[in-house]
Amino acid sequence: TIERLEHLKKLRAEALLGGGQKRIDKLHSLGRLTARERVELLLDEGSFEEFDMFKTHRCSDFGMQKQKILGDGVVTGHGTIDGRIVYVFAQDFTVLGGSLSETFAEKICKIMDLAMKNGAPVIGLNDSGGARIQEGIESLAGYTDIFLRNVMASGVVPQISAIFGPCAGGAVYSPALTDFVVMVKNNSYMFLTGPKVVKSVTHEDVTVEELGGADMHASRSGVSDYAATSGADAIAYIRKLVSFLPQNNMEPPATLPCSDPADRPSAELNQIIPENPNAAYDMKQVILQTVDHGDFFEIKETFAPNIIVGFARYNGMSVGIVANQPAHYSGVLDIDSSIKGARFVRFCDCFNIPVVTFVDVPGFLPGTAQEYGGVIRNGAKILYAYAEATIPKVTIITRKAYGGAYCVMSSKHLRGDINYAWPTAEIAVMGAKGAVEVLYGKQAKAQDDPGKFLQGKEAEYQDAVANPYVAAQRGYIDDIIEPSATRSRIVRALTLVQQKRDTNPMKKHGNIPL
Ligand code: COA
Repeated sequence: TIERLEHLKKLRAEALLGGGQKRIDKLHSLGRLTARERVELLLDEGSFEEFDMFKTHRCSDFGMQKQKILGDGVVTGHGTIDGRIVYVFAQDFTVLGGSLSETFAEKICKIMDLAMKNGAPVIGLNDSGGARIQEGIESLAGYTDIFLRNVMASGVVPQISAIFGPCAGGAVYSPALTDFVVMVKNNSYMFLTGPKVVKSVTHEDVTVEELGGADMHASRSGVSDYAATSGADAIAYIRKLVSFLPQNNMEPPATLPCSDPADRPSAELNQIIPENPNAAYDMKQVILQTVDHGDFFEIKETFAPNIIVGFARYNGMSVGIVANQPAHYSGVLDIDSSIKGARFVRFCDCFNIPVVTFVDVPGFLPGTAQEYGGVIRNGAKILYAYAEATIPKVTIITRKAYGGAYCVMSSKHLRGDINYAWPTAEIAVMGAKGAVEVLYGKQAKAQDDPGKFLQGKEAEYQDAVANPYVAAQRGYIDDIIEPSATRSRIVRALTLVQQKRDTNPMKKHGNIPL
C-alpha cells in the first residue's frame, strides 16, 4: 500500500503543476496568478476539494496523444466562502493556453450539475485561448453543453464569472450568460473577433484593450460589472458579492447581526436637496447615509452612471439598491441606464432580494440617438422588471418623479409595497417650465412681458402640482417623511414586508422587450 500511496502522491504533485513550472513562472513574471492560486484566494482556507484531477483529454490528432496533462487545463471542485458552499472552476492557462477540450467541458458541466442539484452558486474563473484547436467540433460541442447549463441555472443558483486573461470568440458567451462578470484592468479581454479580424473586415485599427479590455466593458458595453485593479482585487470583489446573495432561488439571503442602530438619524439628509431644482447633488450620499455602516457594494459603477445599482444591508437585511443619480446627466433614464436597472431588478427578483429604490428622475432622455437606438423598447425593460418583480419593493422619492419615469421607478402602480416621498418631492407629469410652455405658450405671446407671465405661471404650477401632496392625497405614496429619518423608515418598511407573498399569473415565461 505504501507504494500505491506514493504513486498517488506523485500523480497529485504532477497534476498540481499543470502545464509545468516553466509556464507557471512565465505567468508569474506577467503578474498573473495560476488557476489554483486563484481558487485558493477565492475560497476559505483549506476548504477546496478538487474533482477530476486525473482526467485527461481523448484527442489523438495533431500529436495530442503525447500531450496529455492531468486535469486537462481546468481545475474544478467546491469549497466555501464565509462558510457557505460554492462550486468553482478555474481555467489553467499553463495547459495548452487553457483551451477548452471535450473533457475540459465535461469537468465544468459536472460541477454545474452538482451546483444545480444542491442549490449553490457557481463561480467560473476564466483564462483561456478558446476552443482547443486540435479538437475542433468536440470542443464546440463542449462549449454548447456549458451554455445550456448556464441558461438552465439562470435564476436557480447565482452564477459569477471572472475573466483573468483572454476570453474570445464563442468563449465569451458562457460568462455573458452568468449574472455577474468581473474583469481585470490591462490583463483580461473579451471580444467576439480580435483586432486582426476587425482590421480586415471593418478597416478599424484598434488595440486589444480598446476593443475588449476591462475598462471598455465596465464603462461602454456594460458586459462587465467591475474592472478590478488586479486578480486579487477581482477575487475580493467576488467574495464580497457572494455575501449578499442567497445560495439559490428557494432561499432568502442571510440576515446578519447589525451593530448600526436601525433608528440612526442622518441630519445631513435634511439639507442635501439644493434650493435650485436643477442643481445636482450626489445620490450616493443618500445611500451611504442610510445603509448599515455606510457600506454600499456598487455594481456597474462606471456604466450608465446616471443610475446607481448595488447591494447593501439595512439592519442586517440584504437588499438591492436602485437609485437615479442627479449628479450624472440629471439622473435621466436612457437606453443604458434602463437596461442596467432592469437587469439588476430582475436579478434581485430571481433571488428573493428586496429592492430599495431612490427616485430623482427628470424623465427619459430626448433625441434621435435615443429614439433610433430604441429607447422605447429599452426603457420598457425597467418598467417590465419592476412590474413583474414579486420581491419586497420599498421606494423613496427624494425630488423629481416626472412623467413616464415616475410610473417606471417602482411606483405604487407597479406593485410597489411601501412608497415614501421627502417633502422636497415633485411628483408631476412634467417639470414646471415645460408644462407652462405647453399650457400657456400661446397666451404668453399676447402679453407685454411674456417672460414674466410665464414665470408667474411656473410658480403657480410648482405650488399646485410639483409637490408630493397631490400624490399623497391619492394614496400613491404612503407617507411624506423627514429625510433625516429615511434609514429608520426603510428598516421598518423592509421588516414589515419581509414575509411578503406575491405571484404572477402562470405562464411559460413573459416576453420582456429585448
Ligand atoms: N487551442 C490549442 N492550444 C492553444 C490555444 C487553442 N485555442 N490557444 C493557445 N494555445 C496554446 C499555444 O499553442 C501555446 O502552447 P505552448 O505553451 O505549448 O507553446 C499556449 O497555449 C500559450 O499560448 P500563446 O499563444 O503562447 O500565449 P499568448 O499569451 O501569447 O497568446 C492567445 C494567447 C489566446 C491570444 C493566443 O494563444 C491565441 O490567439 N490563441 C488562439 C485563439 C483562437 O483562435 N481560439 C480558437 C477560437 S475560439
